[in-house]
Amino acid sequence: MPILTPTTTDIIAQAAQHLCDGGLVALPTETVYGLGCDATNPKALATLYATKGRPRNHPVIVHIASVQQLSDWAMDIPDIAYVLAKAFWPGPLTLILTKKPHVLDAVTGGQDTVGLRIPNHPVALDLLNAFGRGVAAPSANRFGHVSPTTAAHVVDEFGDALWVLDGGPCTVGVESTIVDVSSGNVRILRPGMMTAEAIQQIAGITAKPYEKGGVSPRVSGNLTKHYAPTTPVTLMTHDDLIAAWTTLTSLEQATRGLITLDDFVKVHSPQHISLGQHPTGYAERLYAALRHLDTMGLTSLWVELPPQTGEWEAIHDRLKRCAAS
Ligand code: TXA
Ligand code: MG
Repeated sequence: MPILTPTTTDIIAQAAQHLCDGGLVALPTETVYGLGCDATNPKALATLYATKGRPRNHPVIVHIASVQQLSDWAMDIPDIAYVLAKAFWPGPLTLILTKKPHVLDAVTGGQDTVGLRIPNHPVALDLLNAFGRGVAAPSANRFGHVSPTTAAHVVDEFGDALWVLDGGPCTVGVESTIVDVSSGNVRILRPGMMTAEAIQQIAGITAKPYEKGGVSPRVSGNLTKHYAPTTPVTLMTHDDLIAAWTTLTSLEQATRGLITLDDFVKVHSPQHISLGQHPTGYAERLYAALRHLDTMGLTSLWVELPPQTGEWEAIHDRLKRCAAS
């Protein structure tokens, strides 16, 4: 099945039917492309896990079309969940809530919570509305690899046997912020471009980061190496990067990839990508840049460390995981 451009409701209806039949459909969201299946179908979930090469105890996010559907999946929903949902959905925020008894272990990883989100992408919303139930969708990449932000990236991961709905390049570019509200408190399990500060402003309470050593929900944030290209990644400050670069011979320079904030006057090479000074624009293009440089047969990728401020937190988190050996 080639990449499908969902310009007609007919294509959406066919994709929804494919989900009903237990098939997998890769779908665009505003964050990254997801690999979707019927979240109530154990066989479809088994295929999903096998396709991704993902450990069975690793939970997946259920994507829904409306806030009303929250109570199909979650119970004992605290008010704070509705406050955040109202403020940020559809959008790049996943809420962790106490699951209803029927929610499959394959969705929750055997935990008593379920992750839910309404994505902010017209194609995803059309598909979710046409399907009418929840769609389990991890990022559409092989386990541990960089998430896809275009339909072509999904085909690079899985080949063209898969149904892929093309919704253009993702505009957020990194995965959703995951917030555990199951206890009525607000704990950030995975930073995203929806910042802790924005969440705190709406919630009116401090969003605490997840503390290691406590009761440990299984999130990709707990895996050190994740979101990683195959080429080794090294993070460097601006000054260290310039200093190291200038000591290389031009032959050596040709084997290094560079990702920087700005164009350095002294650093010009086809393997140099500058992603800019703005976190939103940087995040939008980061994964495509990593994937592009990863195809060039380089010995290493050098990445300039962005500023240490809250709006860069998700980017820092992903870069650190890329660089973990
Ligand atoms: O932006 C996103 O969140 C994308 C798009 C497709 O929606 N999805 C995504 O899915 O990044 P995935 O599976 O690659 O990452 C979801 C993370 C996993 O690390 C998983 O452990 C965590 O969400 N998660 C899901 N359900 C959970 C739960 N009940 N408790 C704790 N963590 C959960
Ligand atoms: Mg993922």
